[in-house]
Amino acid sequence: MARRFALSGRTILLTGGSSGVGAALAERLLALDCKVEVWSRRPPERIHPSLIHKPVDLADMSALDGALDGLLARHPDLSVVINNAGISERGDLARSDPATLDARAEAQIAVNLRAPIRICQRLFAPLGRLDSAMIVNNTSGLAVAPTVPHPVYCATKAGLRSFTQSMRYQAEKAGGRLAITEILLPVVETPMTASVPRGRMPVDKAADRIIRGLARAEAEIWVGQTALLRRLVGLSPALARQLLKVATG
Ligand SMILES: NC(=O)c1ccc[n+]([C@@H]2O[C@H](COP(=O)([O-])OP(=O)(O)OC[C@H]3O[C@@H](n4cnc5c(N)ncnc54)[C@H](OP(=O)(O)O)[C@@H]3O)[C@@H](O)[C@H]2O)c1
Repeated sequence: MARRFALSGRTILLTGGSSGVGAALAERLLALDCKVEVWSRRPPERIHPSLIHKPVDLADMSALDGALDGLLARHPDLSVVINNAGISERGDLARSDPATLDARAEAQIAVNLRAPIRICQRLFAPLGRLDSAMIVNNTSGLAVAPTVPHPVYCATKAGLRSFTQSMRYQAEKAGGRLAITEILLPVVETPMTASVPRGRMPVDKAADRIIRGLARAEAEIWVGQTALLRRLVGLSPALARQLLKVATG
């Protein structure tokens, strides 16, 4: 029988719920009677009695540790964590000056990789002691095959994908009650992709697919066109990489 994960009524930590995919997920989780604590710099536009915003800059590790310190005291029933926040910067290695490249790289590594790893490391054990819990990491289709213009972004997402796989092995070894899920998105219509002229997946459609995947306890939620990418990688990883190189070069 297929596995299910009951989402209704959960208490959930969601990073990056102030816009884009995170805001669309918060909307759906609230409709499922969940209590959602959002960590982002800006507050979400949506106001709801079960939506709590904690201003946290995920690039600031001491601020992140401070937020983590009080989390379980505030929410002893926390059972789902969704590491969704992310930033994407271009990195033209030939044309940009190294100081600019360094600053952009540091920011992306901090928000996309260091912060979710820190959150997972702090919450894996307490969530693992529950009868049913889930940690979700939002990587990207680009974790599988990188683009030309986003070298650091793609590297952080590949790193988070690898970390997530190891974490899943450890959760299985510990008895498998803690589900580990990865979201792999295509280009979705959010502020992050405002400069992409066409072909973006509507954010509501992407969020609906994610919620279905979470409810089915899918280990990897391949959204929209990333399902094709998955098949292509299965046939030929080199061909998948070549496709992304040509499409983004
Ligand atoms: N859109 C796509 O095509 C696409 C494709 C693949 C994967 N993804 C991934 O999906 C996730 C959501 O992206 P999105 O498209 O929804 O982007 P978005 O609309 O730009 O939202 C990004 C979210 O991350 C938060 N965030 C960024 N920097 C932060 C920081 N320093 N501290 C705390 N929060 C921070 C933002 O909140 P504040 O600015 O308020 O802090 C915002 O809520 C990201 O991990 C992204 O890499 C997106």
